[in-house]
This record gives sequence, structure tokens and C-alpha cells, in this order.
Amino acid sequence: MSHHPPPPPLGPAAFLAAFLRSPRRIASALPSGAALSDIMVRDIPLGVPILELGAGTGVFTRAMLHQGVAEADLTLIERHPGFARRLAACHPRARVLDGDAARLGRHLAKGDVAAAISGLPLLSMSTATKFRILASVFGALCRDGALYQFTYGPRAPVPAAMLKRLGLVAEEVGFTWRNLPPARVYRLSRRQAPAAGHAPATAPGAEERRDAA
Ligand SMILES: C[S@@+](CC[C@H](N)C(=O)[O-])C[C@H]1O[C@@H](n2cnc3c(N)ncnc32)[C@H](O)[C@@H]1O
Repeated sequence: MSHHPPPPPLGPAAFLAAFLRSPRRIASALPSGAALSDIMVRDIPLGVPILELGAGTGVFTRAMLHQGVAEADLTLIERHPGFARRLAACHPRARVLDGDAARLGRHLAKGDVAAAISGLPLLSMSTATKFRILASVFGALCRDGALYQFTYGPRAPVPAAMLKRLGLVAEEVGFTWRNLPPARVYRLSRRQAPAAGHAPATAPGAEERRDAA
């Protein structure tokens, strides 16, 4: 029986071609660069199941593997069938789902993943789609699990009202000029209930005001 080595990952030319065919879905002409990948993956825990959304040509996937995440701990979801096929061929021990990040409940149960990392173009998505995706991701994340999401915008790509409705908080954890375009990274996590007898750390409404700034 002959074992074929995995094929090489798809490169920037394949990414650009996919963008030219469906600019709204791919939302960027270039894959994320190394500086952004470093920020995205640096807090990803090791030895636990990790979910990647919109893995594309696998730049964050490879950064996570390089950092020590085991391939078998990865679940990747990617809606572009050509990207999903190549991800599955390049990462045979990962679970690759060719589908929509808003429908994770079909594949994952509550608490199945410990952290999530997203290359999804949230900024170019409708409010309803964003809500479905976040509900779907936090439906799979464990209690203390966080979602790492980048954006090219100046603030979190999720409106304050939606975060509040989902019981989430967004915290900026990094920014880089060394990406085209420059990008910032947010960590979204469940809002912790304040300990009994303690005042909340931020005044009610403070986050909404920060978001609106
Ligand atoms: C901006 S690209 C990011 C790719 C890669 N992670 C990177 O940073 O270079 C966005 C990716 O998300 C995928 N995508 C968009 N909407 C999706 C959805 N609802 N479910 C799964 N993947 C989606 C696109 O096909 C595309 O590969």
C-alpha cells in the first residue's frame, strides 16, 4: 500500500482567485499575514479541542500547528468547497467540516471545544448572520472558552447590543500594522457574573459608550 504525502497548502493565488469569484464571501484579496496569525494564535490553549471558523487556505491552522496544537485536536469549518477539500487533504487528522459556521449545532455539542479562532469576515455580514454565527460558536464552546476574531475595523466587529444579548464581552488583545490591511484582534468570552457583594467592574452602559465611540 502506498502512502502519499499530503499536498501543499493552497497559496495566495488560489485565495485571490476565490476572492475574485465571490468577493463578499471571501471578503479579502489576500490571506492573513504572519504577524496577524501570531496574535491570533498566541493564547490558544494546547491539548484541548480547538475550533477554527473560515479556515480558508489554512494560515491560522498552520500557525496553530506550529505553536504545538495537535492536528487531531482541530475542527475546521470552511464553506468554500475547494478550500475545505484541500484543508482535509493537508490535515488528515483534523476534522474538516465543509459547511456554514452558523450551523455548528449539526456537528458539535455544547462544550465540545475549548477555544475558537475565526477568520470569518464578520464586518461584511448582516446582523442576523453575525448573531447566528456567534450563537452557534458559543453553543459549542465550553463555559470558559473564548473566540478570537480579527477585524480590519477600528472596533469590535460585533455591536454592543448583540454582545449584551448573547451575554458576551469583547476585549481587544492585539493590533498589527504588518498586515494588509492592518488588523486588530478581539477576544470574545462569556460575561462573568459579578461575585456577590461586589460592585460591577464597569458602570452599566460603559461598553456601549466605548463601542459607539
Ligand atoms: C477573509 S477569509 C479568511 C481565511 C483565512 N482564515 C485567513 O485569515 O487568511 C474568510 C474565509 O471564511 C469563509 N467563510 C465565509 N463565510 C463562512 C461561513 N458562514 N461559514 C464557514 N466559512 C465561511 C470564506 O470561504 C473564507 O475562506
